[in-house]
Amino acid sequence: MKAVVITDFRTQPTIADLPVPEPGPGQVLVRLYAAGLNPFDWKVADGALADAVPHAFPLVMGSDGAGVVEKTGPGVTRFHAGDRVYGQFMRLEQGLGSYAEYTLAEENGAIAAIPGSLPFTVAAALPTASVTAYQAVEAAKLSSGQTLLINGAGGGVGQSAIQFAAQTGAVVLATATANQVDHLRELGAHTVIDFTAAPTHEQVAAAHPGGVDAVLDLITPAGGDPTTLAGLVRPGGILINTNYALDPATLAARGIVGINFGNSPTPEVLAAIAELADTGKLRVHIDAEVPLHEAPTTLTHARTGHARGKTVIVP
Ligand SMILES: NC(=O)c1ccc[n+]([C@@H]2O[C@H](COP(=O)([O-])OP(=O)(O)OC[C@H]3O[C@@H](n4cnc5c(N)ncnc54)[C@H](OP(=O)(O)O)[C@@H]3O)[C@@H](O)[C@H]2O)c1
Repeated sequence: MKAVVITDFRTQPTIADLPVPEPGPGQVLVRLYAAGLNPFDWKVADGALADAVPHAFPLVMGSDGAGVVEKTGPGVTRFHAGDRVYGQFMRLEQGLGSYAEYTLAEENGAIAAIPGSLPFTVAAALPTASVTAYQAVEAAKLSSGQTLLINGAGGGVGQSAIQFAAQTGAVVLATATANQVDHLRELGAHTVIDFTAAPTHEQVAAAHPGGVDAVLDLITPAGGDPTTLAGLVRPGGILINTNYALDPATLAARGIVGINFGNSPTPEVLAAIAELADTGKLRVHIDAEVPLHEAPTTLTHARTGHARGKTVIVP
């Protein structure tokens, strides 16, 4: 099978021909028809999890994917050959991922059926970004009329988070560039703040001198300084960061709840997200669809940022 692999941390991704993996007990072999690209993919390739999990090389890149169950291993009851499935497929210890024609999953792992006529490309765009958005908005504990600032709202997580937050009745402030204003307002943002026009914290503080109820920060990196964003949160409010940049104890001393957020894609939440997408209650903008052989170039571009939605790789 064709796959996008790295041969070691921080090496250039290339296309390789690998054997199709064989499903073991409790596993399914999935023929992939689309893979979703996330910043996490290249962070893993750079060694983000090097100290946490053994990695087998050559390592197939990618986590999110959608396809059809080709074959089931011994004891599998939840899925059958021919089922349309999607989810997260990163298996670092076996060197498997989603930028490939085939991959493996545990039948009780982070996979779920694709409902109705939801296209593979849309399903592949959902797992990491939309599950993160869904669960992070839940963690913000919003009630109607409260204010949420989404910092970095123009990308994959942000666009879904706008929709989930707006559905709670919250007032959503979204930071993005000016060319995304119309699209993000259509998704449910009340105000789009152009972060290139003036520093975000200055613009938000001027409009909300009493502070906002919650901030979902998708931008401050690990080791970065969240102080200016924390300064925008009202006493008793919540600051959520997706890059483990917070010291919750320091924030607690200032009366703010700090959450270093990590997504938890259970089969149940994946089923719920897919249903929302299938019924049009969650809209995902596919920014680019690229063939597998162009994925190495696309990954180089993805490192520079500037996502305007989701990029999907098709075999
Ligand atoms: N912990 C978890 O479970 C988890 C899960 C998913 C994602 N994440 C992390 O969350 C972050 C966002 O993920 P994503 O998938 O949404 O990324 P993405 O699709 O690449 O989107 C990032 C967006 O942020 C914008 N941006 C860059 N600098 C900005 C700034 N200073 N202010 C406002 N917007 C800015 C980018 O636009 P421009 O480049 O044009 O500025 C881009 O539209 C990533 O760091 C990712 O690794 C964590």
